[in-house]
Order: sequence, then C-alpha cells, then structure tokens
Amino acid sequence: METPVTVVILAAGLGTRMKSRRAKVLHRAGGKALVQHVVDTSLELTPPGRIFVVVGHQADEVRQTVLTHGIGFIEQREQRGTGHALMAGRDALANLDGYIVILYGDCPLLRAETLKRLIAATTTSAAAGVLLSALMRDPTGYGRVIRDARGHVAEIVEQKAATPEQLAIREGNMGIYCYRAGLFWKHLDEIRPDNPPREYYLTDMVAILNRAGHRVEAMRIDDEREALGINDREQLAQVDAIFRERKRREAMLSGVTLEKPETITIDAGVRIGMDTVIEPFAQILGKTAIGENCRIGACSIVQDSELADDVRIGPFTVIAASRLERGVSAGPFARLRMGNHVEAGAHIGNFVELKKTHMGAGAKAGHLAYLGDSQIGAAVNIGAGTITCNYDGFAKHGTTIGDGAFVGSNSTLVAPIEIGAGAYLGAGSVITDPVPADALAIGRARQVVKEEWARKRRALIKK
Ligand code: UD1
Ligand code: CA
Repeated sequence: METPVTVVILAAGLGTRMKSRRAKVLHRAGGKALVQHVVDTSLELTPPGRIFVVVGHQADEVRQTVLTHGIGFIEQREQRGTGHALMAGRDALANLDGYIVILYGDCPLLRAETLKRLIAATTTSAAAGVLLSALMRDPTGYGRVIRDARGHVAEIVEQKAATPEQLAIREGNMGIYCYRAGLFWKHLDEIRPDNPPREYYLTDMVAILNRAGHRVEAMRIDDEREALGINDREQLAQVDAIFRERKRREAMLSGVTLEKPETITIDAGVRIGMDTVIEPFAQILGKTAIGENCRIGACSIVQDSELADDVRIGPFTVIAASRLERGVSAGPFARLRMGNHVEAGAHIGNFVELKKTHMGAGAKAGHLAYLGDSQIGAAVNIGAGTITCNYDGFAKHGTTIGDGAFVGSNSTLVAPIEIGAGAYLGAGSVITDPVPADALAIGRARQVVKEEWARKRRALIKK
C-alpha cells in the first residue's frame, strides 16, 4: 500500500465486566490473546514500526504477551477515555504523516479486508476521516451515529447522553476510525471532558471536525458481529465460537473432512492437507501442520507438531512438539510428549509414551511402553511393557537401540545403555550392560519348578 498508515490499538482498560485479575486484552479467543489478534490484523495494513498499542492496566503483561517484534507501546497511566488514550500518544505519533487508523484491543474479529476498505474510503474522499458503523438489531451500549438533514454524519452521541429520539437510531458507531493524520492531531486537543464521567471521548472528534469545516463519513459494515467488542466472558465465548467456525469453514472448503465439525477445535495457525479426516472432538492446536490423507482420531489433541501425508492418529492420542513422517500410525491412547521424531511407517500403539525419542522407519512399539531420550533404529520391535529407565534421580541418560533389534516384552533398559543392531533381549530382562549386535541378552532370575509343592502346601493347611 502506497499510503503511509499508522495503526493505534487502544488496550489500556482493565475490563471490569470480565471479573478477572487479568487485563481484558490478555484473555484468549480462537487460541490467541485478544490483543494479538488485532496486532496480527494490523500487520496486514502496515509495517510493525507503524503499529502502536496503548497500554495501561498490566502494561508489562500486555507488552510481554504481544509477540510481534518491532511494534511500539504507548503508556496511558490513567484511563480517562478513548480520546485521552490518543492524547497520550501525541509525542510518539503526531509526527507520523499519512493516515491514522484507530482500533480496539478487545475487538478481535475485525478483518483486514474491512480495514483496507475503510482506508481506501478515506484516501479517496475529501473527508477528514471515515468511521465504521452498522445498522444494528440492538444498538444498546453503542454510540449512535447522528446524521443531519442531508444525511451527513453530524456527531456521535454516547448511549448515556442520548435523547429518546437518538436512542431509537439503529446506526451504531463501531468505534473504529481512519483519519487524515494532520487534521486529527491538529484538532485532537479540542476534546473536552464535558460529560458526567469527566472522560475525553474520542467520538467528539466528529462534531469537532464538522465545526472546523471538515466532514467525517460513515462506512457501514454488513455483519455487525465483525465489530463485536468483548466486555464479559459470555461475549468472549461467542467470539471464540466465531473464530472456531471461521477456521473450520476454511479447512472444509480447502478439502478437509470434519466429522461433527461443531465439536472440533482448530487454531488459526494450523495447516491441514487435502482429504485428511478429523474425527469428532479432536483439537489441532498451535503451529501444527498436517499433510494430506491423514486421519486424526476422535478426542485426540495435536499441538505444535508436523504430520506428513498418510499419518493415522487413533482416538484419545496426545501429540505435542513432535514430527511424524509419512504413513506413521499412533494411538489410540498414545502420548508423544515432546521432541519426538518418528520416521516413515513406524507404529506407536496404545498406552505408549514417547519423550525426546527418535523412532526409525518401520519401528514398532505396540503396547504399554515408555521410551524416553532414546534413539531407536529402523524396524526395531519394542515389546509390550518395555521401559527405558532414563533418569537416575540426578540426570537423564540416553538409550540407543540398533536397527532390527528385538526387545522382548517387559524389558527394563537401564540408561545409559546401547543395544546393537539385530540383537535380541529376552522378555522380562533388566538390561544394565551393553548388548553387542546380533547377540541374545537375558537378564532375569532363572525359573525354578518345585514339583508337587502346591499340593503339599494345601494338605498342610487342611490339617
Ligand atoms: C466506545 C465508543 C462508542 C462505540 C463503542 C464501540 C467512545 C467514547 N465511545 O465506547 O461510541 O459505540 O466504543 O465498541 O469512544 N480504552 C483505553 N483507554 C481509555 C479508555 C478506553 O485504552 O482511557 C480502550 C479500552 O481498553 C477498550 C477501548 O478503548 O479497548 C474502548 O473503550 P470502552 O470504554 O470499552 O468504550 P465503549 O464504552 O465501548
Ligand atoms: Ca467496549
């Protein structure tokens, strides 16, 4: 975009109606903090150096929550109204030319396309600024857009100050504006706190600019939900639901099958390939990427992970920060805790836990195992109940198992330990010493059989 645009995001308020110890904009919807949504949208309009967040309540937490590098923060120590929030930014902002777009940190549904239209409407008109409005079914709580006889926007009247006739007006002020920066800063200080709460209302700019011989226009949006501001936890849930619905729709339209879609959660940053099927109640979170033709089982959770094509995840499986190559199957009831890399065609069955483990191609751990800090070769078979004892009470140690090895059921591998390629471990072994390639290792007490022992014992007790 040619026109220099500065975006200011108001996020200083506490949000009393949230009934929370945390500032409102720190609450999350659609898997992201509210203020981060607005910052991300702003990044589609202008570079980070032109984005400023006005902070006040829990300013440090808000600063730390916003992960975008290079954006600016403006401190508004006392919250004396939306106009006052802009006044707090005069030093940082007034020398930036072009246009100023004003957004709210608690208004995360607004789309970049809508804001681009707002900016275009401002740059192509002679008006000093354009605000977003909507014809609302119920405008209660919103400022009303008052138009003069010719239909021009004359002023905004807040709900509390409105006459009964004004309250009947259904055109609500969404509180989102694009102004010509020069005119905006020239007139901003004319806002007076001449209302019962003694606040500086940004909405007064409309009448002020009109008085100075300029015009402010209103651009109506069709779907008022887009400008839905979050005030309480019920609205937070509504907005979350809208984000989830948007993302599910995007997934379905790009060729992903969602079974009982209304039960499925997909975070905004997730990518899913064609012909993948997601079963009910699955949650795909964070920066997960899933390939084509995969199946994610019911009630599974996949977070910050990479799944190649043809991966099958059984129901009730939890996968975090792991990479699964083509054709891997995991679950049902498996847990890939973190830092795992599972190569093509490997299988992880029920009640198997993996942590920081590399599984070679075609390796199998079918049932009831814990594999931690392990390097497991290709085509290794891990018997049911195998445990890597990776922790000695002080430090973690690694286990290495060579290609094609066979680990008998209920083996206990005391790390650090190395099992050579092609070796066999007898079931129930406690392995403490290295096993060379192609050897058999048995580490268990020899079986003793005492003939007739049980019969004699019964006879003894009967007496
Ligand atoms: C505002 C508008 C109203 C509009 C509505 C749309 C004013 C006076 N009124 O009312 O016309 O219909 O938004 O949602 O502007 N904030 C600060 N510092 C402050 C005060 C507020 O940063 O000193 C921030 C808040 O954290 C919030 C946003 O500005 O994110 C809006 O403030 P809020 O008090 O909710 O304004 P509304 O009463 O909703
Ligand atoms: Ca509000």
